[in-house]
Amino acid sequence: MATATATTDKVAEDATAVPYAARIEHVSKSFAGPAGRQLVLDDITLDVAPGEFVTLLGASGCGKSTLLNLVAGLDRPSAGTIGTDGRPALMFQEHALFPWLTAGKNIELALKLRGVAKAERRPEAERLLELVRLQGAYGKRVHELSGGMRQRVALARALAQDSRLLLMDEPFAALDAITRDVLHDELTRIWRETGLSVLFVTHNVREAVRLAQRVVLLSSRPGRIAREWTVGIPQPRRIEDTAVAELSVEITEELRGEIRRHGQH
Ligand SMILES: Nc1ncnc2c1ncn2[C@@H]1O[C@H](COP(=O)(O)OP(=O)(O)O)[C@@H](O)[C@H]1O
Ligand SMILES: [Mg+2]
Repeated sequence: MATATATTDKVAEDATAVPYAARIEHVSKSFAGPAGRQLVLDDITLDVAPGEFVTLLGASGCGKSTLLNLVAGLDRPSAGTIGTDGRPALMFQEHALFPWLTAGKNIELALKLRGVAKAERRPEAERLLELVRLQGAYGKRVHELSGGMRQRVALARALAQDSRLLLMDEPFAALDAITRDVLHDELTRIWRETGLSVLFVTHNVREAVRLAQRVVLLSSRPGRIAREWTVGIPQPRRIEDTAVAELSVEITEELRGEIRRHGQH
């Protein structure tokens, strides 16, 4: 069991496997602001099971990124504890690839940081590019890639960390609808193939329902878990499926209620 700041050590976790990918217990977070301390997250308790795909949904400013950053270990909770099964991999809306490196070298850098031997890096980078369906992009520089392709490389680089938990913060929010739709399919496929656990943050209800086994709705000011839904719709789903649309309508109603209760956004 890891505590607030430390993630479970690789060696230790192999000896004593933990029954969760992430465990968030009674976590609160406040920031100092001009009007005193602002409570952003209030008493969040949430587990992500091994292999589970959870989406964290909420209006902008409700504290989704704050919570994800805490799980990533980039910041500490003001109260409560967070444990993860190993060090999580991260993927953001901005790809954060190094522009002076090729797609392949960006991935190899992650492999190097993980301690993969030099001779194994290129074949592993090629394998990961194939997994995200970017065969042939190894030598391409970032500026030569479309937005969707960049996010594919960013996903391959996140996968290169060989983490059991992938944290995604609105990774497809800047993409056009068609590209996003294709990447939803790819992410679903990769999640099913790899058995990864995913905690995916979004403000897009349809996206949350399209992807997740469980949708967790956060309220605003402060962020609390308002409600959660288990999504039983079989994968692969399509964003335009009737069942996806119906559940999205129900969740949107709830989200509207949250926004009405807590002011404008
Ligand atoms: N480092 C920080 N210092 C002060 N306030 C912050 C900090 N990070 C986030 N906040 C505040 O916390 C609230 C939630 O932000 P955030 O987690 O980014 O929301 P979301 O990702 O849901 O849009 C916002 O009001 C934001 O201004
Ligand atoms: Mg955010």
